Amino acid sequence: MRVLLHTGKGGVGKTTLSLATALAAARHGHRVCVLSSDAAHSLADALGRPVGNRPVSISDGVMAREVGVLEELDRSWSEIQRWLRELLRDETDEVVAEELLVFPGLEELLALRAVREVEASGEFDVCIVDCAPTGSTLRMLRFPDALRIFMDHFFDLERRGARLLRPLARRMGAERLLPGEGFFAAFEQLYRDVEEVQQILLDGDRTSARLVVNPARVVVDETRRSFAYLSLYGVVTDAVLVNRLLPDEAGKGYFSRWAQHERQELEAIEQSFPVPIFHAPLRAREPIGVAALAELANDLFGQRDPSDMLVRTRPIRLRKRGRHTLLEIDLGGGAEHEVDVLVAGVELHIRVRDARRRIALPASLEGRAVEEASLRGGVLEVLFEP
Ligand SMILES: Nc1ncnc2c1ncn2[C@@H]1O[C@H](COP(=O)(O)OP(=O)(O)OP(=O)(O)O)[C@@H](O)[C@H]1O
Ligand SMILES: [Mg+2]
Repeated sequence: MRVLLHTGKGGVGKTTLSLATALAAARHGHRVCVLSSDAAHSLADALGRPVGNRPVSISDGVMAREVGVLEELDRSWSEIQRWLRELLRDETDEVVAEELLVFPGLEELLALRAVREVEASGEFDVCIVDCAPTGSTLRMLRFPDALRIFMDHFFDLERRGARLLRPLARRMGAERLLPGEGFFAAFEQLYRDVEEVQQILLDGDRTSARLVVNPARVVVDETRRSFAYLSLYGVVTDAVLVNRLLPDEAGKGYFSRWAQHERQELEAIEQSFPVPIFHAPLRAREPIGVAALAELANDLFGQRDPSDMLVRTRPIRLRKRGRHTLLEIDLGGGAEHEVDVLVAGVELHIRVRDARRRIALPASLEGRAVEEASLRGGVLEVLFEP
């Protein structure tokens, strides 16, 4: 099953274009499910009809569902959070604590478990996800790393500790201070869920992100960062959707300066994103309802099947250069990224601005020193010694 994630800055048209894309894909004969993983659901607003946690049919071959953040999970997670806060209070690795405790990223990640359900049903060829604005989406990608560090370093220790201390704690009437087996079971389940979701997100053969932008400087700048971060985490971005372009007839007179600005931004967009770019005009009114959305889809994709995988390169690649090994990561062009690279045993630590990533190195690279790290044409190149 093909998975398309729509993300971008707040209000740029993610929900609108997720639905438009779904309608276009259905026209090509695909069975499509649209999910919104954003807690602030708005599929219903864009469709002008109610949508709930149960899939509803919105048009031939298209179902939509707003994934409910399950109350049940909410409760067990707050339990987990409480313990984590205690547990991590004295730990030095503050980044880990901080990331584990940031709720929005996790919420989004868990909503994405619904993608597995869509797949398991066997009833769909394409799953389109209307994601939360970029901030949450990126936090969500960092989450599995943080969780893994926690699992590796603390989890078994804590569990064993709790088991050993429980009889004593019981005698002292202080048992409630120790996390029970239920906590550990909940945590392990969470870890498994997160891993499964991550596997889907990182599967470059079927999953890709679509970045929705408006032709405005601030939006384009943020989207460049998103592109870099997505690549850094191994998610393929295979298209940029430019929404709300002033139509020719509207870009005259009073709006001619705006039209000129937009042309400059469009150029910047073309230089920044090495992927296919699609355009949708600013409509005279909000495109609400299936008919208006289908029309917008037509402007965007014409006869093309939007569910095609539109690029074939992976964002993170390993290749040989003579006797050296070269690790390449697409960060996109047009932006000055500050990049720090450090090898720590079996991991490569990379920092691009405020995003940090630990990439597990293949065994063949373990212990090899980095000879050179540089940014060329939007690609971060890390050269390892032979
Ligand atoms: N091409 C367009 N022409 C006119 N109006 C549009 C267009 N695209 C989207 N809109 C309108 O802009 C508003 C925001 O769109 P939408 O809800 O799809 O954005 P979003 O990125 O999902 O927002 P959020 O970040 O809040 O989830 C909506 O009212 C929508 O109808
Ligand atoms: Mg939305």
